[in-house]
Amino acid sequence: MKELIQKIEKRRAIIGIIGLGYAGLPLVVRFGEERFHVIGFDTDPQKVDLLNKGKSYLQSVSPNRIRDLVGSGIFSATSDFDRLAEVDSILICVPTPLTEKMEPDLAYIENTARQISENMKKGQLIVLESTTYPGTTEEVLLPKFQARGWRKGVDFFLAYSPEREDPGNREYTTKSIPKVVGGITSHCQKVAKILYEQIIDDVVVVSTTCVAEMTKLLENIYRSINIALVNELKILADRMGIDIWEVIEAASTKPFGYSPFYPGPGMGGHCIPIDPFYLSWKAREFDFTTRFIHLSGEINVSMPYYVVSKAIDALNEMGKTIKGARILILGVAYKRDIDDIRESPALAVMKLLQDRGAKIAYNDPHVPKLRPMRKYNFTMSSKPLTEELLQETELILIITDHSQYDYRWIVNNATLVVDTRNATRGIRLPRAKIIKA
Ligand SMILES: NC(=O)c1ccc[n+]([C@@H]2O[C@H](COP(=O)([O-])OP(=O)(O)OC[C@H]3O[C@@H](n4cnc5c(N)ncnc54)[C@H](O)[C@@H]3O)[C@@H](O)[C@H]2O)c1
Repeated sequence: MKELIQKIEKRRAIIGIIGLGYAGLPLVVRFGEERFHVIGFDTDPQKVDLLNKGKSYLQSVSPNRIRDLVGSGIFSATSDFDRLAEVDSILICVPTPLTEKMEPDLAYIENTARQISENMKKGQLIVLESTTYPGTTEEVLLPKFQARGWRKGVDFFLAYSPEREDPGNREYTTKSIPKVVGGITSHCQKVAKILYEQIIDDVVVVSTTCVAEMTKLLENIYRSINIALVNELKILADRMGIDIWEVIEAASTKPFGYSPFYPGPGMGGHCIPIDPFYLSWKAREFDFTTRFIHLSGEINVSMPYYVVSKAIDALNEMGKTIKGARILILGVAYKRDIDDIRESPALAVMKLLQDRGAKIAYNDPHVPKLRPMRKYNFTMSSKPLTEELLQETELILIITDHSQYDYRWIVNNATLVVDTRNATRGIRLPRAKIIKA
């Protein structure tokens, strides 16, 4: 343990990061900034190739940083997992999706654990960062690393530290977002804490890996439930003729006991629509039903249907039908100012509109093309946003409120706008009829 701690503190430890996506790549950059040598491992040869050419394929990670790190020899990427033997610490950032039956799909974690166990060397620290149910580190990873008779906290160190990356957030960075860490033993905890202290301002130590795993889920479930709450109240408020955004703004003036959450067209991203179900699944082992998780999932999943019904009503008011209507979707990324479309409610809305015979097009400055995905089969390009396009479109549907859109210009060139984000607030005397949804 002493040897590893010394290596870490002297920045001589080599860091291996497995899974070079939204979670893994910012960690590469952060360790690189602190002059740690980093080897990135990914099964996708295209990403490896691109990164080794000094390019970034994520908008949230600057290409200049990757170019500098590759150019100075600090960082290289590989698909050769034998090279795991070269590193001193391994951070696992692979996907944790759900199966079609909404159950945890641990295949990525299991494959990674196998690759590590085949290439491990004594004295390594291994940290799982992927979001998962409490017990994964202890029940899934630990037995694989102990298989050779190696002792936890002596021959290897194992910990869990949830990723808290928030792509597009300019206020908090990887360095300034506090990091929660739990170890399998006290030695594991100590080494992991020291590693993260090299790159993160505030490391929060918890007593077990299960506590750390559950912490991440609590954070995401809290968001999911609060978003569902305002989504449900939005529908009621609309029926009552009350503007929910004005209500939220007023409630937010309370200096204690209230945190604002905002309604929208549904929930997206790799975390919030997925992670809570990891806990519901695990809860069944304890004869427990996580009712809040199910209720919020149900409400959030129904939101694209609500948006589509508002669009149909809006067209109806103008004497038009959804069948054959020309509809332009503004913003397909799952949230503002990012390029990530995973689980985006825009895709669900587009599919529902298309099923009803609408002619859809989209614009998203961050997403130039849509390609077929597991659930959706779109092959489309983002249409340039011009006055002509706005004028010839029968309904503009604002799904994602990217900050580079000029909403005043949009509503002054459109006829009918359905706004799911309150992006058009405060615009006086718009040419278009605006419906909030
Ligand atoms: N996206 C976020 O902002 C975010 C935030 C917090 C937590 N997380 C969690 O982090 C984890 C990773 O999510 P992500 O968004 O970075 O996913 P991602 O899809 O962007 O990246 C995962 C990467 O892992 C690679 N990969 C898959 N299997 C692999 C294997 N066996 N070995 C090596 N590489 C492999 C993929 O090619 C991909 O590049 C998930 O558990 C997620 O819940 C993500």
